[in-house]
Amino acid sequence: MMEDDEASEEIHDEVPREDLAEAPGEVDEEGPIPTDINTETLERLELPSDVAEATQQAWRDYLNTHPSNISAGEAIYSSIFDANPGLQAAFKSPKASVAERFVNGLSDATRLAGSKGKLLSLVQILGFRHLDIEVSPQKVDLFRDALLEMLELEMGKRFPPKAQYGFALLLNYVGGAFIFIRREYQSRVQLIHSTWHAAKEGIREATAVTTAATDQSRRSSKHKDEKETVVNDISPVSREAEAQPSKFDNVVDEMFHFNVSAMGYSAKKHWMDLVLEQLDEIVINVSQSCRIREECEKLALVLAKYEGQVVISEVRSVVMSSLKSFISTWGEEHEVAWAWFWINVEKLIAELDGKLRAQERHLEDFLQTSSKEAVDHVVQNMHNKFFEIAPAGQEFFKVSKTRMYHIAERTLDLALALHRDPKQTVRDLSALGLRHVALSIPVEFFPPFVQGAVEALEEATEDEMVIRAFRWSVALLGKILTRTVIEGSNLVMCAINMNDEKAVKKAVAISPRGTRAESLLYVTVGTDSVSPLLWAIDCGSLVAAKAILKDLLTIRADRHSYYYGCDELFARHPHIIDHLIHTASSLLPTLLDGLIWRSRYAVEGKRRVNYYVKHLIEDSEGKFNQALKWIVQSRDTELVRHPALELVCDTIWERLALRLFLIDQSIYLIFLIVFVTGQSFLQHLNSGDPDAAVRTVTFICRLIIYLGSIPQLLLWHLRKIRANRREGHVVNVGVQCPVYLQSTQALYKLGLLLCLILMCILEPTFWCVSEMQGSYSGAGLFTQSCPTARPFRDIYSLLSMLAALFYWLILSNLSILSMRALAFCLLCGQLFGEFCLFMIALAFLILTFASSLSALEHESWAFSNIARAALSLWELSLGMASKAQLESLGDDLILFLALAAFATALLIFFLSLLVAQFDQAYEIRYEEMLGFARLKRCECVVLLLETVSLKSWTNFRESLQLEVPLEFNAGDVGIAGGLQVSEPAVKHPTARESIKRYAGSSSQSMPWPEEKLEHDEDPFDQLERDTGHSCSKFFHVVFFHLFSDIVYCAPSCLCKCNGYPVIISYSFLFV
Ligand code: HEM
Repeated sequence: MMEDDEASEEIHDEVPREDLAEAPGEVDEEGPIPTDINTETLERLELPSDVAEATQQAWRDYLNTHPSNISAGEAIYSSIFDANPGLQAAFKSPKASVAERFVNGLSDATRLAGSKGKLLSLVQILGFRHLDIEVSPQKVDLFRDALLEMLELEMGKRFPPKAQYGFALLLNYVGGAFIFIRREYQSRVQLIHSTWHAAKEGIREATAVTTAATDQSRRSSKHKDEKETVVNDISPVSREAEAQPSKFDNVVDEMFHFNVSAMGYSAKKHWMDLVLEQLDEIVINVSQSCRIREECEKLALVLAKYEGQVVISEVRSVVMSSLKSFISTWGEEHEVAWAWFWINVEKLIAELDGKLRAQERHLEDFLQTSSKEAVDHVVQNMHNKFFEIAPAGQEFFKVSKTRMYHIAERTLDLALALHRDPKQTVRDLSALGLRHVALSIPVEFFPPFVQGAVEALEEATEDEMVIRAFRWSVALLGKILTRTVIEGSNLVMCAINMNDEKAVKKAVAISPRGTRAESLLYVTVGTDSVSPLLWAIDCGSLVAAKAILKDLLTIRADRHSYYYGCDELFARHPHIIDHLIHTASSLLPTLLDGLIWRSRYAVEGKRRVNYYVKHLIEDSEGKFNQALKWIVQSRDTELVRHPALELVCDTIWERLALRLFLIDQSIYLIFLIVFVTGQSFLQHLNSGDPDAAVRTVTFICRLIIYLGSIPQLLLWHLRKIRANRREGHVVNVGVQCPVYLQSTQALYKLGLLLCLILMCILEPTFWCVSEMQGSYSGAGLFTQSCPTARPFRDIYSLLSMLAALFYWLILSNLSILSMRALAFCLLCGQLFGEFCLFMIALAFLILTFASSLSALEHESWAFSNIARAALSLWELSLGMASKAQLESLGDDLILFLALAAFATALLIFFLSLLVAQFDQAYEIRYEEMLGFARLKRCECVVLLLETVSLKSWTNFRESLQLEVPLEFNAGDVGIAGGLQVSEPAVKHPTARESIKRYAGSSSQSMPWPEEKLEHDEDPFDQLERDTGHSCSKFFHVVFFHLFSDIVYCAPSCLCKCNGYPVIISYSFLFV
C-alpha cells in the first residue's frame, strides 16, 4: 500500500508532449508476440529496460502523429470497437471520455513500464476501476491484437518489434491483473459492504437503546421537517432525506464528529461533513466503477466550492476509527480492505483536484463572454451532430427547431450549473432524468448525445481548455441522466409513462404486500426520492394516477392484518388535496371515495359506513388540517358536497365550531335586543313623550351599545385588517383594501360600525347634557329634545334605522344553522337578479303607458299627467288602486282599452314570465345553492377554527378517538383513523364488499395473490358482454325453431303450391 502512495503523485500525469523524441533508428527482433496472460498471481512485471524504452518511444511517436491526445484515443477506440463490436458493451461512457481514459491509462502504463513497483500500483488502481467489467483472457487477446494492429498500421516502421513486444507484454500484464483483481479482491468488496452494513445496523440498535428517552422530541422535530418538505412538495422530486427515514442516523454523524474532534480536525469539520454526506453512496457502490466515479466526481465538485484547504486523505483515519468503534471484530483484513478502498477513492477525487475551478472559469468565459455566434453555433449544431452519430435518435425529437435549440441551451447551462451549484443541479437532473423516462428515451442514446454536444463545441472553439471542461461536465450530465433513467425506469414508472391502468396494476402486483404502498409513493433516484403518484399527476398520466390512488386506497386483508395505503399517502403527500385541486381535480372524487367503506349489509334499514377522514381533520402534528380550507378556496360546489367532506365539515361544526359560532352570534343578538329596546321600543312609549325612568333606561341601552358594540366591532375589523396585511391579502382598488371586506358579512359589520360611530357623535342625549332642565317641551333627565340637538335628530334617526338594519343583516348569518335555510337565503340572492330584470321591465311598461295616457285627451284625474299616471299604474299593478281612481275612468273607451292592455301585458305576460323564470332558475340553481351553502358552512368552520384554543381543539380531537380501530361488520375490528356512522340503507345501495380478502400466506413479504381480471372489468363492458351472449343465445334458439318448423312444413307446402315462395323464404333465411 505504501507503494500506492508513492505512485499516486506520478501515475496520472500526462505524457508531456514536448518530451516526445524521435523513433529509434535501430530495430531489434524480439520473436513472436507474447500471448501469455497470467491471471493466477499479481506480481511485478520485469520489462527489460531497452524494451521499456522502445515501448515508451513508440507510444510517444504515436501520440505525436495525432493533433491531440483525445483524437489519439478516439483512433484506438475506433480500431478496437470496429474490430470487436462485442467489447463495446462494457463501455457505457461517451466515446470521448472512453478515448481519454484509454490514452491516460496507456500513457501511465508505458511511462511506468520500466519501474516495477509503480507499475504494480498503477494496475491495482486501474483494477479497482474495472471491478464491474467482466474482463477475460479472450477479451484481453482481442484488445491487444486490435491495438497492436492499429499501431502497426498507423506507424509502420516507427513501431518496431521491440516496442510491439513491450506493448504486448504490458497489455497482457494489465489485462491479467484486471482479471486477478476482480476475482481475488471480491472478498475485500464483500468485507467493505458487510462492515458498512453491520456498522449501520449496529448504529440503529444503539440508537434504539440510547435515544429512547428523546424519541418523542425527535419525532416531533421530524414532523416539522416533513412539513417543511411538504411546503416545497410541488415537485415530484424531493430530498429523500426529508421524505424517508434518513440512511444515516444522527448517532452516525455524532460518531464521525466525535472522531473529527478527537483527532484534532475540528477546524476541518465543515468540509469533512460534505464528504460524510456522500459517504454512503460511495461505499455502497464500491464495486460499480462507473457509479463510484460519478459519486467521486460529484463530491469533488462540492468540495471545489469549499473556500478553505481540503486534504481528502485525512478523512480516511476518521472513517476507519469510526467504523472500528462499531465493529467489534475489526481486524487486519478490515484494515487492508478499507485502506485499499479509500486510497482508490482518494485518487479518483485527487485526479480532479484543482482542475474543477479552472474548468468552471473556462466554461464561464466561453458561455458568458465569448462571441454569441460561437454559442449559437453549438446550440444550432448539437442535435445535428447527435443525429449524425445516432440517426435513430431523430425518432425521439419530433419537436420544433426552437425547442431543440432550447434543449441545447439548457444543456450548456447545466454544464456550467454543475460547477456553480452541484447539489441543486444534481437534484434538477433527477427531475430531468425522469422527464426522459417519461419520453421513453433508451439509455444507449445518451453517450452519442454527449458526443454530439462535444463535437458541436469543438467546431465552435479551438480553446482546448474549454473543450476539455465541457467534455467533462457534459459527460457527467450524461452519466447522471443515464443512471436516473435506469433507476427511474421501474415497472411502475413505465406503466405511468404508458398511462395504462392495467399496466399499473401489473407493475404493483409483484410488490410485497408490506411495501406495496411504498412502491407507489417512492422511487429512489440517486439520493433523491421521487413519488410515482405525483409524477403521474404532474406529467398528465391521469389514468395511471387514478389507478395508483385506487390501489392505495383499497383495503386488503389477509388472516392477520388489514392493509390500507391511506396513512402512507397522506404521510408522503400531506398537500395532496391542494395539489389535486390545482392540477388534476378530476382525481379528487377517486381519492375521497377511497376514504369510505360501506357495509353491504343493512340492519334495520341502516348501513354501517366508515369514513377514514383522519387526514382531512388533522395534520401530522395533530393540528387542524388545511384540506377544508383548500376546498373552500377552490369554490368547487360539487366537490364540497362529497359525503366524506360533508362528514368532516359537519363533525367539526357540530362538535366544536357550532358553540363558537353561537357565542359569536349571540353577542350580536344581545346587542340587537338592547338596540331595538333603546331605539325602536322605549322611545315610543307614552305617545312619544317618555318619562324620566324610560329616558334613563333608553340612555343606558345606548351607552351599552356605544361602549360594548363599537369596541367589539372595532376590534374585529382591526384583527381582520392585521391578518390580511400580514398574509398580503390586499387588493388594490385605488387604495389598498384588505380582502376580508369582499364578504357581505364584513361589509354589514363595517356599515354597522360606521353608523354606530356617527350615532355616538350625534347622540342627542349627549348634546342635551348641559340643558336638560331648560324651558322646552320634553325637558328633564336624559332628554333628547333640547334645541341644540334638534338639527341632528333626523340624521340620527336615519342612522338608527340603518344600524338596526345592519344588526338584522348580520344575524341573517344564523341561517347557516340549517343547510336548507342557508341554501334558500343564497337562492334569494341569486334570484334577485331575475327580480331586478322584472322590475326594470315593469318600470319600462309603466313609463310607456303613463306617457301615452298623458298624451291622450281624457277626463280622468288619476292619469292626468305622467307622474300621476305612473303612480296609478303602479298601484294598479300591485292591486292597490282605490275605488276613486277606477271611477275616474268614467266611460272613456280608449282609456279603458289602454288600461286593459296594460293589465293584460303585466298580469298575463310579465308576471307569468317572472314565475317561469323563477321556476327554471330555482330548479337549476337549488342544487348549486346547496353546494354554496355547504361551502359557506365550511368557510365558517375554517374561520372559527382559526380562533379556537389549543385546549378546545385537543379535546375535540380526543373526543373523535381517531386512534381506535373501527369495526367493519360486527366483530370484525379493522383499521383506525376514521369515523363510523349509520346511514339509511337506501342512500348508497352497496352490493359488493369493497375489502379484498385473501387466503393463504399472511407474510408481509409476499405479494398479494393475483387478482382476477373480471373484478377489474368495467360493469358496462360486462353488461354489454352478457347482453351479447344472451342475444346470441336468443337468436340461436329462435333460428333453430324457425328452421325446424320450415323443414317440417316444407314438403307439404311444396306439394300444395308450386314451391317458389317457399324456396325464396328458405334462401332469405339462410342469408
Ligand atoms: C446528456 C444528455 C442529455 C441532456 C443533458 C438533455 C437535456 C435535456 C433538456 C435540458 C431538456 C429540456 C427540458 C425542459 O426544459 O423542458 C430535454 C428534453 C428532451 N430531451 Fe434530452 N437531454 C439529454 C439526452 C437526450 C437524449 C439522448 C434524447 C433522445 C434520444 C433526448 C430527448 C429529449 C426530448 C425528446 C426532450 C423533450 C422535448 C420536448 O419536451 O419538447 N435527450 N433534454
